[in-house]
Amino acid sequence: MTAPLTLFHFSDIHFGLEDRVALAWAERCVAAESPAAICITGDLTMRARHREFRAACEWISALGPPVTVEVGNHDMPYFNLIERFTDPYRRFRAIESLLERRLDLPGVAIVPLKTVTRAQWRFPWSNGWVTKEALAETLAAIDAVPAGERVIVTALHPLTERSPRGKRLTIDGTRAMEALARRGILAILTGHVHDAFDLTAETPGGPLRMIGAGTLSKRVRSTPPSFNELTIDDDGIRVRVRNLEHVPTPAMQIAAVPANALPPREPDEPVAPVGAVPAEDPPVH
Ligand SMILES: [Fe+2]
Repeated sequence: MTAPLTLFHFSDIHFGLEDRVALAWAERCVAAESPAAICITGDLTMRARHREFRAACEWISALGPPVTVEVGNHDMPYFNLIERFTDPYRRFRAIESLLERRLDLPGVAIVPLKTVTRAQWRFPWSNGWVTKEALAETLAAIDAVPAGERVIVTALHPLTERSPRGKRLTIDGTRAMEALARRGILAILTGHVHDAFDLTAETPGGPLRMIGAGTLSKRVRSTPPSFNELTIDDDGIRVRVRNLEHVPTPAMQIAAVPANALPPREPDEPVAPVGAVPAEDPPVH
């Protein structure tokens, strides 16, 4: 029996449009509860402006516990396309000295998966793409984890590949889900959609637990700002969606992965089942 481990899972803080009240509350929770680590699953800034990264650095360096951060689509240059193509991660590298790239906690390893790209053959470029290289790097890191240690993977984008209308969300997400399920990981933590969820996808490689965090920014989708508290013990992971409005966890979690991070235009916007079967590509627009 190993001692339970508590992680905080933050996402989509979007410095530049951060929710100061929610951030101050999250800071107080960290100070009072000292989680073993904090995983931030991307979109640290709003437009990758230097001042937004400076604000993020200040905030992260005051937290205390070790922190991992994934690169989000918002963390690459938005206005400077030359820099976006030639050196897309330069601004993000400014904060890397504060971060753990890969984290080894007692009995649990946190392994990153890159799902962002500098450009794509489709619009919007904000959607995910698990390239062969990115997946291979993550699988190699998982394979290097000592036997007996469990693995949590962190990424920006949920890996669900298709919306119910056939729109491609994360390119090659289905392949990545199957490969991660075969490795028997505890879960993949993601952000991007600004609402929390806790879903299990059935894949040909076995079940894959997919845990999404909401946002700590003012860019809320359908739920108030929140973060996930994860308790890991011999039985697996328990998820509590913490929020200032005291909404119970089941009411904070959405039932499927949505296509967009922003609120739907129509309340009945279809959402993607977690194990969505690939369909034909829609025309690129
Ligand atoms: Fe976001």
